[in-house]
Amino acid sequence: ENFKLQQIYNLFQYKSIYLYSAEAVKTLRENERLQARSDDIIVSGYLKSGTTWTQAIVQLILYDQMSPIRAWGMDNSDKWSPLHRVRKAVIDSRPSTRLIKSHVPRDLLPVSILETNCKIIYVYRNVKDVMVSLFYMSKGLWEYQHTSPHDNFEHFVEKFVTGQIVFGPYFQHLASFWPHRHDANILLISYESILKDPQAMIKKLAAFMGKPISSKRVAKIVQASSFEEMKKHDTTQNDDNTWKFLRHGKSGSWQSHFTPELLQKVEAWIQSNLEVEELCGFRFD
Ligand code: A3P
Repeated sequence: ENFKLQQIYNLFQYKSIYLYSAEAVKTLRENERLQARSDDIIVSGYLKSGTTWTQAIVQLILYDQMSPIRAWGMDNSDKWSPLHRVRKAVIDSRPSTRLIKSHVPRDLLPVSILETNCKIIYVYRNVKDVMVSLFYMSKGLWEYQHTSPHDNFEHFVEKFVTGQIVFGPYFQHLASFWPHRHDANILLISYESILKDPQAMIKKLAAFMGKPISSKRVAKIVQASSFEEMKKHDTTQNDDNTWKFLRHGKSGSWQSHFTPELLQKVEAWIQSNLEVEELCGFRFD
């Protein structure tokens, strides 16, 4: 079955999710043995939900220097890399406080992270915007080209909703964190809420992390983590320069990508999942 998936979709199965390469499977397996430290901070979310942005903000809260925030890129990938991209030895060698990014559902996190009760920040985003963002990344970056190059947005969405998508099925991801939303060591935030009021979100994150923060510093972090500022340092590049990691940075991209028919199908898919999983707290308006 793995062979078939690989042939058709360029996807590789790892436990309950799909990944885009055998290398990613190997790295995640290796990181299962990761030894967590009690002060590790985990930034987690389905990909394209704003995990890098959250990571940038958390980093600016944690560390005193205000170095420019370089977007996740090919040249500095280790610093920004999620668990499936960075080798265990690299994470082991990092000084505390470590910031660890992950795209796996909660039950696939290294067991020691769960046992140590590390602080986890879980970020989610309107799934229709996630689809648009991932669609462009899958066209732009070879590793994510698990859909055919001829696939249009509609084909892509079809694969997304049937779970044949990298790190999918999508709702399994949300459902794995949802029962833990009241745990003291977990904070659920949305991409839209950061966009709406970055100051308030920075204060909330700092309070969750137990880091006192001045209003002056909050204002500096708002500036340093803004889309415009981060875009200046976006080092990502694909072969034909058609894609940048900091692509659009807004909510509501979906409105210009869905036909009324596709929208209807996707809304029905969202509704049925929110109800079945009792995930109604994740609102996607
Ligand atoms: P778009 O493709 O819609 O622009 P992730 O880091 O989880 O993969 O999420 C990537 C998405 O977050 C991209 O969305 C990217 O542009 C957006 N993003 C990254 N940094 C941002 C920032 N500073 N402000 C707003 N959006 C940001």
